[in-house]
Amino acid sequence: MEFVYNLVVVAHLLGMAAVVGGFVASRPAISNLMLWGARAQIITGIVLAGMASGIDSLHKDPDTAKLAVKLVIALIVVALCEIGHADAKRGKQITWMTNVAGVLAIANVFVAALWH
Ligand code: HEM
Repeated sequence: MEFVYNLVVVAHLLGMAAVVGGFVASRPAISNLMLWGARAQIITGIVLAGMASGIDSLHKDPDTAKLAVKLVIALIVVALCEIGHADAKRGKQITWMTNVAGVLAIANVFVAALWH
């Protein structure tokens, strides 16, 4: 089961690369890469959190407050990406949405690495 968990960690890190890399490469536009990265973080993050707290043999002791903060931030990121991406399709470009989504995604990397 540890192997499966570690594969989901890989997907979570690739999602992080997509949302942050997509932001840096295509701002002020919200690229498909950024949008899919933001979606991937919600799915892989929830799977990781569920596995970490539900499977004893993994010996993980996830901090619920940290996960809650990450989830709230990630939900804001994905919401801004969905709205910004849909607006861009209609020819409307809202730069602040892209910037706030990108900065919050980077903030989540800080939360992930520094909150222990
Ligand atoms: C924009 C959204 C997100 C970004 C950029 C992000 C980034 C990261 C990064 C860089 C790591 C690896 C660093 C470390 O192991 O300490 C990590 C780990 C983790 N993330 Fe996220 N994350 C996001 C969203 C979420 C969400 C929504 C959840 C769940 C509610 C979540 C749950 C976890 C868990 C459980 C780990 C630990 C993996 C392990 O080392 O066992 N993440 N995240």
